Amino acid sequence: MVSRPPLRRAGLSEMADATPETPRILSSRRQLVATELDARLPDWDSEEDDVLVCRAVRQETHDVRTFVFSGRSPRRHHYKPGQFITLDLNIDGQSVNRCYTISSSPTRPHLISITTKRFAGGVVSPWLHDTMKPGVEIRAIGPMGEFNCVDFASPNGKYLLLSAGSGITPLMSMARSFHDLAMETDVLFLHSARSPADIIFRSDLAIMARSPGFRAIPICEHDSPDESWTGLRGRITLPMLQMVAPDLMEREVFACGPAPYMAGIRSMLTGAGFDMARYHEESFKFEDLAPLDAAIAPPANTANAVATYKVEFTKSRRTIEVPADTHVLAAARAAGMRLPSSCTRGLCGTCKSKLLSGEVAMQHQGGIRQREIDQGMVLICCSKPLSDLVIER
Ligand SMILES: Cc1cc2nc3c(=O)[nH]c(=O)nc-3n(C[C@H](O)[C@H](O)[C@H](O)COP(=O)(O)OP(=O)(O)OC[C@H]3O[C@@H](n4cnc5c(N)ncnc54)[C@H](O)[C@@H]3O)c2cc1C
Ligand code: FES
Repeated sequence: MVSRPPLRRAGLSEMADATPETPRILSSRRQLVATELDARLPDWDSEEDDVLVCRAVRQETHDVRTFVFSGRSPRRHHYKPGQFITLDLNIDGQSVNRCYTISSSPTRPHLISITTKRFAGGVVSPWLHDTMKPGVEIRAIGPMGEFNCVDFASPNGKYLLLSAGSGITPLMSMARSFHDLAMETDVLFLHSARSPADIIFRSDLAIMARSPGFRAIPICEHDSPDESWTGLRGRITLPMLQMVAPDLMEREVFACGPAPYMAGIRSMLTGAGFDMARYHEESFKFEDLAPLDAAIAPPANTANAVATYKVEFTKSRRTIEVPADTHVLAAARAAGMRLPSSCTRGLCGTCKSKLLSGEVAMQHQGGIRQREIDQGMVLICCSKPLSDLVIER
């Protein structure tokens, strides 16, 4: 087995200390490039080291930025195009979790990017826009998510990618992957934006569209102050879809955007007789995805039932009764408590809480690390009590 020196990323300041021409700095730069390109780089694994370091920030539009990250030392990032990571942040002393789709492509595994729209009045997106710059470290879990073009690859290589606004991010990861792999695919990417100034990744799409088998068609609702739009205009309609994709029925369709946009797409495709088994969508609001599982919602009638346990929430100073077949979060909500949560299905990590005593049965989907479970953390949205519990919340 070949032994190799520990991998380390040279700091920019370290490189700036020397004159670029000096042999030392040249050798350091060569070493850096050689290390980064080492095919044997270990994978980034949020179970082992969940820190991501910001390496670059790109302004995509007036209110959208891309943040590029890598591990603290060189790592390869593996994910399926369309998946997301959950940022685990501490903002003003509060722990906050938010999910962001990976907008980069796993074909370029050294870096991982997210692209976020700034929501005025929001907690995390303005913080990212205002705070994130090269060198800033954050924690993240993932990747996760079922919306991806690997598990739902098109049998004939034909794709229709549909997005609106910041919903472009998972589809951009797919488009970049198809483009980099230069496979025999036929990708049609229709992106809806308010105006030309709001088209995210406009130049990247234009560059990819130079390759055969890739078409990118932006659709704008209106002009920008400094550009009148000459392309497709208005909201997406079935005749518009059929005009640009006469072979619509042969395509695997992926869509992401606000709930009304996706409702419109669904109804157009259903109306056209499209096989909805070949339609896949992602929502940036978990509540828009599907109703809560019966298992997660509190049972309507627990009269005949199962054991009931006392669950004490230390910070909220509340104690409630939770039947053994009910998730703790659902019972707390039913009791009128407002606890942090987002996906309610064990994905995002927002409801993570410390279990001070007792035992739960937890069925999560990647929103918590094994070492956190070992430290007594639980996701209360997908945990049912097996005894009386004391939870720090
Ligand atoms: C799977 C997934 C993937 C995602 N991928 C992306 C992505 O690629 N890019 C992206 O930009 N986003 C993405 N999101 C959305 C992202 O997670 C955040 O929801 C988004 O950035 C807003 O977070 P925030 O903390 O800034 O706003 P929040 O604080 O969560 O607020 C959201 C909005 O609600 C408003 N609001 C907040 N509190 C209130 C209140 N009390 N009353 C009324 N309005 C209120 C805010 O003004 C803001 O407009 C994704 C979400 C999911 C679930
Ligand atoms: S609310 Fe998302 S993991 Fe619990």
